Amino acid sequence: MREVKKAVIPVAGFGTRFLPATKSTPKEMLPIIDKPIIHYIVEEAIKSGIETIIFVTGRHKRAIEDYFDYYPELESILLKNGKKELVESLREISNMAEFVYVRQKEQLGLGHAVLTAKHIVGDEPFAVLLGDELIINDKQPAIGQLISAYYKFGKSVIGTMEVSKEDVSKYGIVAGKSITEGIKLVDYMVEKPKPEEAPSTSAIIGRYVLTPTIFEELEKTPLGKGGELQLTDAMVNLLKKEAIYSKDIEGIRHDTGNKLGYLKAIIDFALMSEDIKEDIKELILKKCKEING
Ligand code: UTP
Repeated sequence: MREVKKAVIPVAGFGTRFLPATKSTPKEMLPIIDKPIIHYIVEEAIKSGIETIIFVTGRHKRAIEDYFDYYPELESILLKNGKKELVESLREISNMAEFVYVRQKEQLGLGHAVLTAKHIVGDEPFAVLLGDELIINDKQPAIGQLISAYYKFGKSVIGTMEVSKEDVSKYGIVAGKSITEGIKLVDYMVEKPKPEEAPSTSAIIGRYVLTPTIFEELEKTPLGKGGELQLTDAMVNLLKKEAIYSKDIEGIRHDTGNKLGYLKAIIDFALMSEDIKEDIKELILKKCKEING
């Protein structure tokens, strides 16, 4: 069985929920304290054995390329000021993986973004991580959990989490036969169903391991909901040819693509950060008192 060594991270979306900030700053570059969201996602992939990161970017996303590149002018100033360790930590960011960039010329949806990476992925299984979903698990990263399941079943594995009935219309929803604890053999999938039409409350949450057969399906799949090429629609077609599994991901998930999710992530990370956690606790308690009068 081929190993999963490549990850596609689609980051070409406009991030309209964060305008005006995202007019010139990619939403994936918004910081969680002092590290951009995308840095955590790349770390998750690397810790899971990924060696090549394929970013699907757009013309407004150059800051991501710069972030994962060397910055010699800054480095020489830092070195002159005796900050060798800082220079090394910046270089580490660029050396984490092999980074490849491919442009999605039109923002035609997640499925289209994944298809844009076809020629770089080639004929091997690959991971997909959405650039605005943070999932924290110190024991085994989210995408690592799916890669382990892929090695067991040899078929595509979709990351899922249970959501409330009212929230199903925000997600792709899967249903199927339970195989073992947290793993299903998928028999049905639908993108953003109405609550009364949803087959389950098992939601797709931005992590996938896919076999390369998905590209054939993406090429044939017409534009779906919102005039976008939906990855879920292509997976529905893939299901007619190949088994697909879903795995409940263990970890704390933050959807940093919306304002509240982003703020919650910052608070959670601040409460885990050795240097500011005591101060932030004090601040939160003070605010609670003020709010409650
Ligand atoms: P979203 O729909 O959450 O991101 O897509 P968006 O379009 O950037 O955000 P809003 O809804 O306008 O605020 C999920 C992921 O897929 C990428 C996005 O960058 C995001 O990481 N994406 C989406 C693409 O790469 N290309 C697309 O055409 C659409």
